[in-house]
Amino acid sequence: MSRFRSVIAGVGGYLPEKVLTNADIAKMVDTTDEWIRQRTGIRKRHIAAEGETTSMMATIASKRALEAAGMEAGELDMIILATATPDLTFPATATMVQKELGMLRGFAFDISAVCSGFLYALAVADSFMARGQVRSALVIGAETFSRILDWEDRTTCVLFGDGAGAVVLRAEPGAPGMGDRGIVHTHLRSDGRFTDLLYVDGGPSKTQTVGHLRMSGNKVFRHAITNISGAIARVLDDAGLNESDIDWFVPHQANERILEGISKKLGLPKEKVVSTVSEHGNTSAASIPLALDVAIRDGRIKRGDLVLFEALGGGFTWGAALVRM
Ligand code: UT7
Repeated sequence: MSRFRSVIAGVGGYLPEKVLTNADIAKMVDTTDEWIRQRTGIRKRHIAAEGETTSMMATIASKRALEAAGMEAGELDMIILATATPDLTFPATATMVQKELGMLRGFAFDISAVCSGFLYALAVADSFMARGQVRSALVIGAETFSRILDWEDRTTCVLFGDGAGAVVLRAEPGAPGMGDRGIVHTHLRSDGRFTDLLYVDGGPSKTQTVGHLRMSGNKVFRHAITNISGAIARVLDDAGLNESDIDWFVPHQANERILEGISKKLGLPKEKVVSTVSEHGNTSAASIPLALDVAIRDGRIKRGDLVLFEALGGGFTWGAALVRM
């Protein structure tokens, strides 16, 4: 059977104009800039304007990714959009992006895996491409978490921000080899026993409301380090690679201390870690493609580099991916 590699041909990001600093939040809840910076590394986050939706942000990020890839929306076969904050309960936000991009062929759907959503979407897209079922795909992570935060809960409202990131994948013949560009390996996990540690307390079926994000941060923190480290070990093992092969670490941007804990375990120097958490906060499914976009545009990540992604989110869902750029 012929096999195809999913090559990242272009990356794009979008952050809303409005910025909320820690000092701004300290005027709303009982917190301080010092507490937020020390415990999370976050200095500021971007917040969507009134009326600015997940699909709008996703569309802008997608146009930028398509431009970077030198492709037209009409050439795409598939859109997968990862979000926990869709415009509406249905239809899928991906179909709204499809319309806005003017993509009249193929198919589009959403994936719900919260902060791990981008990794899940990437892995699903890679499966379609590996079998030759699609030749090009847009994979998006886009969120308006500001709409599901309890702005009176200081334990959660300081952590998150809004934004969107997108990658264009193009199929190239051949299985992923050591030196070839493309997604090398992905490893996904979930464990539904931990739903009550990180969830939204509303939804169409249960409460007929949108609800607010609830998190036992401290417990999530401990699971994050253990689970993510396990997924990284597994993806490296499956790929026949080791820590020293990694050129860049682009983690989900939840907390600077998690990034530091995991990179320390991996033996990766700080210079190889792409951290945007101070500027973006936690943008859930958007955080990895947004960080990737930053590091490509500022010239750090170059063609041929081996990049490691990881994330953990509500569910729990978690995973890791290795990509040769
Ligand atoms: O992206 C999805 C996955 N999410 C994550 O990976 C997040 C994982 N968790 C974390 O990042 C951290 O647990 C937090 C940043 C959420 C919290 O940091 P922590 O060091 O685990 O703090 P804590 O929850 O143990 O709280 C310590 C203290 C508590 O006070 P007491 O009980 O010790 O008196 C909290 O009430 O800090 C208090 N606190 C705050 N104080 C000032 C909690 N939030 C705040 C706040 N400002 N915003």
